[in-house]
Amino acid sequence: MARLRVGIAGLGRLGARHARMLATRVADAELVAACSPVGEERAWAAQTLGVGANYATYAELLAHPGLDAVVLVTPTTEHAGQIIHALAAGKHVFSEKPTSLSLEDCLRVEEAAARHAGQVVLIGYVRRFDPSYRDAFDKVSHGVIGVPFMVRSHTLDKNDPSGFFVRFAPTSGGIFLDMSVHDIDAARWFLGSAKPVRAFATGTIAVHEGLAACGDLDNGIAVVEFEGGRFACLQASRTMAHGHESMTEVVGTDGRLTIGGNPRLTRVDVADAHGVRNECTPTFYERFEDAFAAELNAFVAAVLHDGPLPVTLRDATEATRIGIAIQESVRTKSAVTL
Ligand code: NAI
Repeated sequence: MARLRVGIAGLGRLGARHARMLATRVADAELVAACSPVGEERAWAAQTLGVGANYATYAELLAHPGLDAVVLVTPTTEHAGQIIHALAAGKHVFSEKPTSLSLEDCLRVEEAAARHAGQVVLIGYVRRFDPSYRDAFDKVSHGVIGVPFMVRSHTLDKNDPSGFFVRFAPTSGGIFLDMSVHDIDAARWFLGSAKPVRAFATGTIAVHEGLAACGDLDNGIAVVEFEGGRFACLQASRTMAHGHESMTEVVGTDGRLTIGGNPRLTRVDVADAHGVRNECTPTFYERFEDAFAAELNAFVAAVLHDGPLPVTLRDATEATRIGIAIQESVRTKSAVTL
């Protein structure tokens, strides 16, 4: 196989960026087709990226002649069904996180992947492909901080006064399943895939009252207990004034390391009469752009050259399972046993 012939489904906030990435920074892939129900998005893919075939439906995309793989950047509620259809059609699949909002659907995806063992399925937990997270993981693996037992991790987004998060809420699964799944996956990764035993969470709507209709929050915290005296403290926010932050701290018996403690955009610091400051990454994309490139390249390499992948479908299922327990804890106002 020369270059992997890829089709993308979903050309929204992240899909348009993944499409551009596939067209420009994934040398072993060829973006041959795209799919979106939105006509302007299809026109954008044709005109801006020169994508030759642009379909209104996913079924048409899967039927595109010679297609090897699909990249799914569709609403989360679509992922599981689309992954299973793609596998049945003989395609390799990259899907954005989370696999699904339902544990049953995650397990259905695992079963389908097991039936199609020759096809690659990767769920995009992008932090596993970020050089700083990877460096921290290697250091933890080599015992630099002793035995890790606690992770503190937060994902904080800049407030979007346009109300995007309110429109996004019906399909996102809520702030914990949408945002904190990254922190949950990072916590499991750094704590050696520890088995979760209990979760407690709470939160509030500080700004976006419209989230109440979906039972969602714009700020929340969660504590997850794992076997062996290990635990994680997670925070999520959609209302920060300064920009996007993804921070993870790992505490071990002999030390502590922090990834992204200062969410700096560049290496420039301004020192003046107001103090010392730096600009912040405005959104998750500026923070993780290189990691998004790395994960798509890793997916293509896994298909073409049997390259390694750092995250399994079971890891992705566990992130959803813990996320569901956290959401359940918010709803019931009590700790949930896993
Ligand atoms: P969005 O709402 O901006 O875009 C969704 C796109 O899917 C739109 O183009 C829409 O027209 C299209 N679409 C809807 N139904 C479809 C269908 N049945 N078939 C094909 N296309 C369909 O959403 P956004 O923010 O781009 O999120 C998409 C996914 O990416 C979500 O699952 C989200 O969790 C994930 N995401 C991951 C991030 C990360 O850090 N890894 C960051 C942002 C989003």
